[in-house]
Amino acid sequence: MNYAIILASGKGERCGLDVPKQFVKINGKTILEYTIEAFNKNELTDKIILVTSKDYLDFCKKLKYKKIFMVTEGGKRRQDSSRIGVNLIKEDDAKVLIHDGARPYIKNELINNCYIALDKFNAINTGVETTDTIMEVDENKIIKKIPKRKNLLRCQTPQGFISGLIKKAHKIALEKNLSVTDDAGLIVNLELDDVFVVDGDIENIKITYKDDIIKAKERLK
Ligand code: CTP
Ligand code: MG
Repeated sequence: MNYAIILASGKGERCGLDVPKQFVKINGKTILEYTIEAFNKNELTDKIILVTSKDYLDFCKKLKYKKIFMVTEGGKRRQDSSRIGVNLIKEDDAKVLIHDGARPYIKNELINNCYIALDKFNAINTGVETTDTIMEVDENKIIKKIPKRKNLLRCQTPQGFISGLIKKAHKIALEKNLSVTDDAGLIVNLELDDVFVVDGDIENIKITYKDDIIKAKERLK
């Protein structure tokens, strides 16, 4: 069974709008619906789990996409929302992709590549090269390190896992009070398994700032 968990429980504070960014409408459809549609159409996805905030539960429950299997209320941090999502999966041998609801440009081929990579690996991330050199600085903004650019990739979503592994990772993280920015980070931090990186897509950006919404109005036309 292949599950896609779509995270849509954030507030979108960096966008500074009166609705969370994933609920901004473009051509009569919310950004979240563009994201859901990509997975609903994807031939390898069996079931979609949608995680959203209390205020949008009713709205999300009314969405008519045939693969939506459950709609549930998320948590305070992204990590809490994804834990709630993965814990809805009973099997331990399912494939699960976790994707940001705020990444509506996700392409079908990338979704497929993620599921396929899970034939070989128990955990995968998607990543793209960085065009700028990245520097590591200390609190005083003094450069500490300039790692080789070719070894640095920018993390995106989807991230993918065998369900038993990601459920275990979230359970340990909760017990240890470990805080991470994303699910692949859990596996890496807890040293539970290798995380393979699937080539991401520079167009698969996360709507983050107001400017991204302005651009989305053009791109999602
Ligand atoms: N997310 C979530 N639950 C949270 C926080 C975030 O499901 N408690 C989701 C968001 O809805 C988004 C994805 O995780 O689709 C990536 O998070 P981010 O881009 O940080 O979104 P927000 O937290 O909503 O934005 P901001 O950090 O600007 O407030
Ligand atoms: Mg956030």
